Formats: sequence, structure tokens, C-alpha cells
Amino acid sequence: MDFNLTEEHLMIRDAARDFAQTELLPGVIERDNAQTFPDELVRKMGELGFLGIMVDPKYGGSGMDAISYVLIMEELSKIDASASVMVSVNNSLVCYGLEAYGNEAQKEKYLTKLATGECIGAFCLSEPEAGSDATSQRTTAIDKGDHYVLNGTKNWITNGGRAEIYLVIAQTDKHKGSHGINAFIIEKGMPGFDIGPKEDKLGIRGSDTHTLQFNDVKVPKENRIGDDGFGFRFAMKTLSGGRIGIAAQALGIAAGAYELALKYSKERKAFGTEICNHQAIAFKLADMHTEIEAARMLVMKAAWDKDQGNNYDMSSAMAKLYASKVAMEHTVEAVQIHGGNGFVKEYHVERLMRDAKITQIYEGTSEIQKIVISRGLIKE
Ligand code: CAA
Repeated sequence: MDFNLTEEHLMIRDAARDFAQTELLPGVIERDNAQTFPDELVRKMGELGFLGIMVDPKYGGSGMDAISYVLIMEELSKIDASASVMVSVNNSLVCYGLEAYGNEAQKEKYLTKLATGECIGAFCLSEPEAGSDATSQRTTAIDKGDHYVLNGTKNWITNGGRAEIYLVIAQTDKHKGSHGINAFIIEKGMPGFDIGPKEDKLGIRGSDTHTLQFNDVKVPKENRIGDDGFGFRFAMKTLSGGRIGIAAQALGIAAGAYELALKYSKERKAFGTEICNHQAIAFKLADMHTEIEAARMLVMKAAWDKDQGNNYDMSSAMAKLYASKVAMEHTVEAVQIHGGNGFVKEYHVERLMRDAKITQIYEGTSEIQKIVISRGLIKE
């Protein structure tokens, strides 16, 4: 067993940290206020290889491992979780889904553009009446011979407006339950595909989240991913990797808030000494550091499982469940340590607290992670 990162991993982590400090930190408060994220920053993340981290270089990717992915996700998320969710969805839901399950023609046509950041992707599973209960897809794709006709609504779609390539899950035969579901590649601009207004959110406000509408969209048959009926398994397998990314995002949010709280507690004085010298604050810091380190171990273990070719359904669910809990609890503590300043935007911790909440919701709520973990335990 070796808990040390390799030289290469350290370099990747430092490059991500440097990018986050120099490029993401300036303007992060303004972007959160305005709910925007400039194309220029997306382009820079693409140039650094952050949008196709694990993709094979023959498709334009960086060819890195999952450990590198979580290191990058943690560093970006310490500063800007809106940037990191874009990175996570593009990498582990869209690029991974296409690379693992798409055919050669689909990879050449779509993956190469997505991995380089030439365009961004979105993953469309959730619906107004199918969030946690993902088998209850209402969006239909009717087989018309050489094409499918897609109808329905998807909501809470990350990158919904910015994306140009959308992986859309739809029901093709409701009598077959989860085996009557397929995944399709949809391009922006296909007739009948409309993008609704951007959601006004509590957190990750720089990332664009939209409702999508499909009205009689004609989808060529070659845009179906995998064999007929593979769509639900495609979504589940892809989401297992996605959960490693969100777990790393939660870890980064928690670690970012902790670092700010530690620094502040060494500067701020009360009752004649720096507040870190008061046990009430010191014990909070001790709990934060311990639990963040425990979350990091779970995140690394899930990434390691993926790199080793082990099944990572349970380890990714455990990492996401725990890291998101730590993120929520310790960003609240970071605000508390900052006192009145914690409630003010310029100190950053209130944004991290708002951003933390979504990590307990998207890519499977904490309750869904417990279903995945407990079913895995019972099956073992
Ligand atoms: N790998 C392979 N197959 C799997 C699988 C996996 N990880 N998980 C389930 N399956 C298979 C099952 O074996 C079963 O197959 P059989 O019928 O052949 O036995 C089939 O799929 C159906 O599985 P379940 O019976 O377990 O299905 P269920 O209805 O009980 O639901 C669930 C399972 C885990 C709760 C699932 O619905 C789930 O994960 N829900 C949460 C959905 C989710 O995470 N949504 C996030 C939206 S995406 C997002 O947030 C992206 C973003 O923009 C940030």
C-alpha cells in the first residue's frame, strides 16, 4: 500500500491548483452573482486538457487516470464549483459514456470534439416526474425504422444551454421497464429540440442549468448508444463514474472552506488572542481536518477502483455520500468560524456553503447512494 501521490500526480494537482488560483479565483464572486461563466475560461480548461482528462489521446483526450481526475476536480472545486461541475459532467458522464459504450463512428464524430473542449456535452436523464426514480422515464423515442422520434421534457440539465452534444435517455418500450430504455446522441439545433430558460439556483450559479424540450425530434438510428434496451444500464454505469467526480467536487468544496477557515482563525483576534487558540474553534478545525481527510480517502479509493478495473458502484456511492455530507456540514462550520464576515460574499465561504448543497442532490441524492450501497451489501 502506498498513500503517496506520484511525481506526475503532484504535477497535475499543482497545475490544477495554479489554474484555479490564477484563472478561476478572479471574478468568481461576480460570476456567481451574474450566473455566468465566460467561454474564454472554458477554452482555457480545454487547452489544459481538463475537459477530456481520462479520454484516450487518439480521441483528443489527455489519457490520464481517475486519480488525476479527482485531483483536478478537488483543486477546481476549492475555488469554483461551477467550473468543476462543467468539467465533471463533460468528463465522466458524456466523454466516458461515449468512450466506453459508443461505437467507433460515434467516438470519431463526437468524442474528439468533446475531449478537446471544442464543444461541451450534457447528460439528460432527469425529468419532472423521474428524478430519483430514473426507470420512470416519460420521454419517449418511437422506432420508425431508420430513425426514432423523440418527445418529452428533461430538467435540471447541467450545461443545458452551453452544450452542443446531449446524451438523452428515453423510453422506447414501456412494457419492458428498465430494459425498454435507450440512450441517444442529440445535437443542438436538431428541429424540434428547444432549450428553456436558465434556472435561478441557490448554488453553482455560474453553471447553466436548463429544462430541455423535445417535440417530434427525428433522431437517426446511428445515434443510439449500444444495443437496443441498453439505455438504463448505460445511465447507471456512467453515473457510477460521475459520482466519483461529484464526490471529488464535494471534497474540494469542503477543503476550500476549511483552508479559508483555518487561515481566518489564525488572523482574527477575540478575547486577546487569535480565535484558533480558543478550544471552541480549535476543535471545529480538528473535526473538519479529520473528516475531510477521511472523505479524501474514500474519493481516492473509488478512483483507484476505477483505475484498477474493479467494480466501483459501491465505492463511488460511498465516496459521494460521505464527501457531500462533510462538504455540507463543514462549509456551515467555516461560515460559523468567520462569524459575521462569513455571511458576506467577499469571504467566499457563504458561496461554498451554497455550492455544497447540490452535491447531496445531483447524480443521485444521498438517499439514492444509500440504496446503492445497501443493495450492494445485501448482494455480496
Ligand atoms: N450497473 C449495471 N446495471 C445496473 C446498475 C449498475 N450500476 N444499476 C442497476 N442496474 C440494472 C439492474 O441490475 C436491473 O437489471 P435487471 O432488470 O436485468 O435485473 C436494472 O438495471 C434495474 O435496476 P434496479 O431494479 O436497481 O432499478 P431501480 O428502479 O430500483 O433504481 C436506482 C435503481 C439506483 C435507484 C436508480 O434509479 C438511480 O440511480 N436513481 C438515481 C438517478 C440519478 O442518479 N440521477 C441523477 C441525474 S444525472 C445528473 O444529476 C447529472 C448532472 O447534470 C449533474
